Amino acid sequence: MASEKTIEERLGALRAVITSHNFHYYVQDAPVIQDAEYDLIFRELQQLEQQYPHLITPDSPTQRVGAPPLKAFAQLAHETPMLSLANAFSDEEVIAFDRRVREALDVKKVDYAVEPKFDGLAVSLMYENGMLVRGATRGNGYTGEDITLNLRTISSIPLRLPVVPARSRFEVRGEVVMLKADFEQLNQRQQQKGEKIFVNPRNAAAGSLRQLDSRVTATRKLTFFAYDIGMLRNHQPDFLEHSAVLAYLASQQFRVAQQNRIVTGADALLACYHEMAASRSTLPYEIDGVVYKVNNLAQQETLGYVSRAPRFAIAHKFPAQEASTELLAIEIQVGRTGALTPVARLAPVFVGGVTVTNATLHNEDEIQRKQIMIGDTVIVRRAGDVIPEVVAAIPEHRPADAQSFVMPDHCPICDSRAVRLPGEAVTRCTGGLYCPAQRKQALWHFASRSAMDIDGLGEKLIDQLVERKLVHTPADLYKLDVETLAKLERMAEKSAHNLVTAIERSKHTTLSRFIYALGIRHVGEATAKALASHAGELNVLMKMRADELQQIPDIGPVVAQSIEDFFIEAHNRDVIAQLIQHGLQWKKTPPAAQATSESGLIFSGKTFVLTGTLSTMTREQAKNRIEQQGGKVTASVSSVTSYVVVGTDPGSKYTRATELGIPVLDEDQLLSLLQKQSE
Ligand code: IVH
Repeated sequence: MASEKTIEERLGALRAVITSHNFHYYVQDAPVIQDAEYDLIFRELQQLEQQYPHLITPDSPTQRVGAPPLKAFAQLAHETPMLSLANAFSDEEVIAFDRRVREALDVKKVDYAVEPKFDGLAVSLMYENGMLVRGATRGNGYTGEDITLNLRTISSIPLRLPVVPARSRFEVRGEVVMLKADFEQLNQRQQQKGEKIFVNPRNAAAGSLRQLDSRVTATRKLTFFAYDIGMLRNHQPDFLEHSAVLAYLASQQFRVAQQNRIVTGADALLACYHEMAASRSTLPYEIDGVVYKVNNLAQQETLGYVSRAPRFAIAHKFPAQEASTELLAIEIQVGRTGALTPVARLAPVFVGGVTVTNATLHNEDEIQRKQIMIGDTVIVRRAGDVIPEVVAAIPEHRPADAQSFVMPDHCPICDSRAVRLPGEAVTRCTGGLYCPAQRKQALWHFASRSAMDIDGLGEKLIDQLVERKLVHTPADLYKLDVETLAKLERMAEKSAHNLVTAIERSKHTTLSRFIYALGIRHVGEATAKALASHAGELNVLMKMRADELQQIPDIGPVVAQSIEDFFIEAHNRDVIAQLIQHGLQWKKTPPAAQATSESGLIFSGKTFVLTGTLSTMTREQAKNRIEQQGGKVTASVSSVTSYVVVGTDPGSKYTRATELGIPVLDEDQLLSLLQKQSE
């Protein structure tokens, strides 16, 4: 049996190691060991404490898991009030602040500490003899709520200070935030569990911190940033400058913003502000401005306070990124690819530095998830250059006549059917060939190299043709003449002539290119080839239903549905009919070409041997297809074998082929040869 002293020593050592790793991980954001290694040490501590519960100490890292719920938070009076800051919204106000400071101090230049203004919750932490004893919210500045149990769960708050301060009582002030990444993860988890989605990291942090059940807080990742000390400064002026206070906090293993700076004069303040504003989106946490504090503590003392705010500091705020306004209507915008996006029409609101009247609602599910109704008061967010979005509704302000949103089942632009494919969030217009919203995209795709390969018909020219209303659908391309084209910008007689020739030439195509050119969603070149070789004729393909289409190798339910939806749409069928009327044509794929025919089929006269398992077809199917293209399939490899087709787990035929030096094809190579033939 180990003596209790030995156990205590081991416990102490484990706690010290874990606390140090917590510091590297949560404060320095630079872990030095693997998670698994950490877990092992942590488990050893837990097990030992379980065996010797009387040796558990309040500063043990195991004691951050929360405690049974409280009925209410106790009120706690702050020993020194937690004041707020005056705000500045413009450069002029900052210049005026600096002038006031200089005049009051009667100096030419002032050094300032510049810090990010965290968008979180101010808290006070009280340490006695180096141990965290109490933590409180700011409350009204004089009295806050005792949230000690919740604060103890935050890993970046030391439960015990590494160096016991000279004063027995020591207060640290700072902000509890939820890092952006932790916020995203929390919301994902909440959504999976069907629970409340938080509007922003600040709300999530507030919601998590003000839990009566600290075990819930323990499941939320919160981070504490220290920016000041309370009591110590008032009673014992150990420091000459604010920057020294911050350095001391860092030495006591608090997390301190890396962006903190010391600069001189108003111009430098403004430069810092613009720099911080520019890097705002790259910071791991949300900030809503920059705080300027006179760095010299004696100067701070001289400046003193006015009503509830210090005269030595000011918050230079960024334009608010969120504001509330009325959702007047939800309109549908149709994008280049046919996506129907619900867009909020809003009562004008000033947010993110501009007046916003429209904001995206993303898609149907998002509206559902956020339970947004037309007529609601909503929160609009505009962060930097990001498109404004509606982040939430305020249900308490919902008028009696608020209306639910219903996604239309027809395209508001062209009246083609709009569908939502299984597993997709977006509803799309199916009238790809006809819809004005998709016109440019459809024409560009139609003319592209792998589709109809119309040389010289680039994006700029398509823009002109569409904007001048010369072309509405791909079928209109075949009506263009040299005279019309020569009048366009950057076109001359010769280039117009070349284009007409290219358009004319494109009429002789292949079925697979034509199918690809239609721009059916999810139908790329390979799928188009598979469709062409299986259906053989366009008419057959156009009549196939999703379940039949799914019989084709590599065509799943989503692709099949997309193809069916496309051909069902009458607008598309019209355009296809017009294209064919204009003379588009392709060689018919002989439905069952015989091996004996002298048709010039690439496999005629060739002998194949199949071995191993193929992934897209059975061997029987492969045999049929080879035979359709004029080849012969035999059972054993000999010197007259032209090719051995090898699937997975091939047998001795493969070895034999290599011995005899007979060319070996894998499945892809066989398919590509077959497809070449069917073009
Ligand atoms: S110093 C005497 N520094 O801003 C003023 N406050 O309006 C003590 N805040 O309640 C505050 N970041 O929640 C200070 N770097 C920072 C800050 C900061 C955010 C918040 C804090 C405070 C409010 C003041």
